[in-house]
Amino acid sequence: MVSIQSRPEPELLRDGIKVPVKETLLTPRFYTTDYDAVAKMDVSSQQAELEAVVEELRTDYNRYHYKRDDEFLQSWEHIDGETRATFIDFLERSCTSEFSGFLLFKELSRQLSDRSPLLAEAFNLMARDEARHAGFLNKAMKDFHLSLDLVNMTKKRSYTFFKPEWVIYSVYLSEKIGYWRYILVHYHLQKHPENQFYPLFKYFESWCQDENRHGDFFKVLLRSQPALWGTWKAKLWARFFLLTVFATHTITVFERADFYKSIGLDAREYNKQVVINTNNTAISAFPAVLDTSHPEFFPRLEKCVDYNFKLMAIDNSDRPQWIKKLQKIPLFIAIFWQLLLVYLLKPIDAESQRGKVR
Ligand SMILES: [Fe+2]
Ligand SMILES: [Fe+2]
Repeated sequence: MVSIQSRPEPELLRDGIKVPVKETLLTPRFYTTDYDAVAKMDVSSQQAELEAVVEELRTDYNRYHYKRDDEFLQSWEHIDGETRATFIDFLERSCTSEFSGFLLFKELSRQLSDRSPLLAEAFNLMARDEARHAGFLNKAMKDFHLSLDLVNMTKKRSYTFFKPEWVIYSVYLSEKIGYWRYILVHYHLQKHPENQFYPLFKYFESWCQDENRHGDFFKVLLRSQPALWGTWKAKLWARFFLLTVFATHTITVFERADFYKSIGLDAREYNKQVVINTNNTAISAFPAVLDTSHPEFFPRLEKCVDYNFKLMAIDNSDRPQWIKKLQKIPLFIAIFWQLLLVYLLKPIDAESQRGKVR
């Protein structure tokens, strides 16, 4: 495996405000969708479930959770070198993806307020949670003398259009994978408190319950639309989104292996556990899921990690742009090929498994 090079000092936009990481296929994106189509969605087949989920969101279990306690009131200069750089990178990507969720949910809530009040309320309540999450992470960045100018980012960043169906599949998965990511770190640090080098992690247990509830809302939305689970096309889409989310997760976790090492986690094992658990959870919502126990599943995903490191090495070289582009082509083809082979592995029919696993 090609190892990641040490990171340069963070680039500043102005005093204490960090230049956001360059947008790539792997950085968290901002989304927009067809709001009219969402407003017209008939969710009546899941009305009772929808009301139950919204009631949970209204309860606001974590109203007082995101308050920084005295443990934050100290200097964090002893966290230095690669640990500091990878931790800041973790905070930034997490903050950006939480904020991306906030923007999408807030806009959905605004656009739907007259036409679909219950959905609008749900999106508003979820936007509330994501704003808290993003704000908490941004405050953590300030402990390292950096923060993100989130308002500026809303103007500067490009927005990716996703059809409502794609939003439902991908946000469901990102909420559930977010749940597993946070809860597994929490379980690990419960067993190994000596690795808890910063108090943020002790907030993860309740935090991930927010993500779990958001995921449950998207599950209800998904199950209310038979076209999203009852057709052969739906099965293909479900597998596609699972694979994309798992491939992105695998690559980014390996990129940040040093961060996981700093909290005593093995990146490979952590990634496997997150992917396997998220895939199992998806059985309750998706029409098909991937066979993560297939002997080729993880080795092929991890081959993509190696190719990605080679792509990064090309990017960091000082060769002319056109040579870099040329050198990258076979690596992109190799990643595509590995992912295609994983995609074609026999899937698991979730419809027949429903109720057995969650
Ligand atoms: Fe969140
Ligand atoms: Fe969320």
